[in-house]
Amino acid sequence: MSFNEIRDEKVKEIENIILEYLPKEEGPQKKVIEAMRYSVMAGGKRLRPMMLKEAYVLFGGRGDKADAFMAALEYIHNYSLVHDDLPAMDNDEYRRGRKTTHVVYGEDLAILAGDALLNYAYEVAAKAVVKYQGDGSVGRAFAILAQKAGIFGMVGGQCVDVMNENRQEPLTMEEILFIHENKTAALMECALMCGAVLAGANDEQVAMMEKVGSDIGLAFQIQDDILDVTSTFEELGKPIGSDEKNQKATYLSLTGMEKSRAEVKRLTHEAVEILKSRDQRNEFLEELVLSLVSRRN
Ligand code: IPE
Ligand code: IPE
Ligand code: MG
Ligand code: MG
Ligand code: MG
Repeated sequence: MSFNEIRDEKVKEIENIILEYLPKEEGPQKKVIEAMRYSVMAGGKRLRPMMLKEAYVLFGGRGDKADAFMAALEYIHNYSLVHDDLPAMDNDEYRRGRKTTHVVYGEDLAILAGDALLNYAYEVAAKAVVKYQGDGSVGRAFAILAQKAGIFGMVGGQCVDVMNENRQEPLTMEEILFIHENKTAALMECALMCGAVLAGANDEQVAMMEKVGSDIGLAFQIQDDILDVTSTFEELGKPIGSDEKNQKATYLSLTGMEKSRAEVKRLTHEAVEILKSRDQRNEFLEELVLSLVSRRN
């Protein structure tokens, strides 16, 4: 099987897991559950749960212990997108080729669907903590999930990102890197660290995975900003020119196309070299990381 075929198989397995954990569309809150499902089941690359699982396998993890965390992380990612697209934030009307959640369900329910996805992610992960009582790795993974999603992670990055829109003086490289590191890399670090921790990796190995996640995340956001300028709506499934519309400073706007492309490659190769330098290897994960350099959506 080719890399793409293997990846597509894995996406299907992941979608089964995230679907299985989702609440049923019933009861008085049926509509908001529908909105949660609309966002989560709209497709997407499923990169974060995939990275979590591959890190788990890399460190010898077996069985379904990581499943709840894969689902929880994808719910958190989707909540971040539902809120990111809101009129008060990036004000975008399409994602993954479909109307965004607030366009279909209204702003009120989109805000609540985001809240519900975030909270539900912790409900799912907390159940795993209870189920695996006595296995300290699950509680440690829970702490990483909570921290990387929050004010010292994704939310922190999103705050600095929106606060600097329309700013007169250009952002410094340090500020841009803070935004990328937090709004995007934090959830990728979370994926790799949770997978490693759940498989019983030691502190040094978990720190290594955090560094790999940081490199991948920075490269991923620079590439996202490049695609925002160079891609098409058809390919991307979300509006191009979103960053310019919002007068958003990016790595690309600061350094230009050539340097940005070179940095995506440099960071990606650094991440892959770290993964390759170890005794335990996961070649699929290495290929997955490399494939992100040439991604078109
Ligand atoms: C989009 O993430 C948000 C960014 C961090 C740039 P993805 O590109 O992973 O989104 P989906 O889930 O595949 O649609
Ligand atoms: C990352 O930045 C968004 C999140 C962390 C949710 P963008 O705002 O560039 O992501 P897209 O382009 O809307 O997917
Ligand atoms: Mg944004
Ligand atoms: Mg956006
Ligand atoms: Mg973008």
